[in-house]
Amino acid sequence: MIDTSRLRIEKTSVSKLSDIDFNNIPFGRVFSDHMYVAEYDNGAWSNMRIVPFKNFSIHPANIAWHYGQSVFEGMKATKANDGTPILFRPEKHAIRINKSAARMCMPEFPQESFMEAVYELVKLEKGWIPPQEGSALYLRPYMVAMDEFIGVQVAKSYMFCIFCCPVGPYYAKDLKLKADDTYIRAAQGGVGAAKAAGNYGASLYPASLAKQEGYDQVLWLDAKEFKYVQEVGTMNIFFAFGDKVVTPATSGTILDGITRDSCIQILKEKGIEVEERPLSIEEIMQGGKDGSLTEVFGSGTAAVIAPVKEIAYKGDVINIDTSAFKIAPMLKDTLNGIRSERLEDSFGWNVRVV
Ligand code: COI
Repeated sequence: MIDTSRLRIEKTSVSKLSDIDFNNIPFGRVFSDHMYVAEYDNGAWSNMRIVPFKNFSIHPANIAWHYGQSVFEGMKATKANDGTPILFRPEKHAIRINKSAARMCMPEFPQESFMEAVYELVKLEKGWIPPQEGSALYLRPYMVAMDEFIGVQVAKSYMFCIFCCPVGPYYAKDLKLKADDTYIRAAQGGVGAAKAAGNYGASLYPASLAKQEGYDQVLWLDAKEFKYVQEVGTMNIFFAFGDKVVTPATSGTILDGITRDSCIQILKEKGIEVEERPLSIEEIMQGGKDGSLTEVFGSGTAAVIAPVKEIAYKGDVINIDTSAFKIAPMLKDTLNGIRSERLEDSFGWNVRVV
């Protein structure tokens, strides 16, 4: 039971909901009616509120814009077959944003306030959850520094916000990845495990080069040897060699994906062997050539499960026949099925918003 006595809720007088075509929603460009906001000052969070969605007025010297104290989460609310809104593993997101915040020297946002925020926001915005299985209301919780100062120092004031976007799948087609042997996403001791805004900004240039060559995303390799596969930036990555699934171990440079963890648990429950270990790009390219590599797919909140049909590395290319995939479609169906309650939630991942 959540005590909402401290949360102020101001409802909009003009809803935009009737403008939405749920069959045709561009990812991340449509925003629901309300958002959650809280402020941190003098060592405490206060002024927790749900208000009509609107622009902020920000000081030009906002410290986060210059030095990047900015962390975020991506999570989803779906609808059960009986129409009840469902939050998928919200407590994992509450914990992860605080891990990211700690790495960026930002304050903790109380877990119970996070749970209250997403619960009450989704309760209010339930009409914005797309009805189709596989679509969802994407929630974007984030925390940014708010000091009006341009010296490099830890900010004293912060804002925590959550807004919502109804979305379909992030990737509409099978992906082509380029394993990058020039640029890196994360090095040991860096911020790769944090969902920090700068990780995404830094990926844009190498990703634009990969796009010029016809690839959709970069498959990042480790920063020391350019040998071991890490992740894709927008998602974690899995490789199936017949009945065995391998995914890079989270070693401090890889985002500890919640969908990644869900996939590992589903695979284990289905009796499919899954290894978390260092995995070299040579092993993958070799597997692509000798046929032992049978599936490659990404996992992420936005991406859900995204099949990969091609990987390029140093001028070498492997193609993977996505039409023969068995494990990736099973994982996608299981995740979507649990989130619509078509399948039993045997893991206890769903939080019903009633
Ligand atoms: C998510 O999967 O939620 C992310 O934050 C990744 C981003 C590509 C949307």
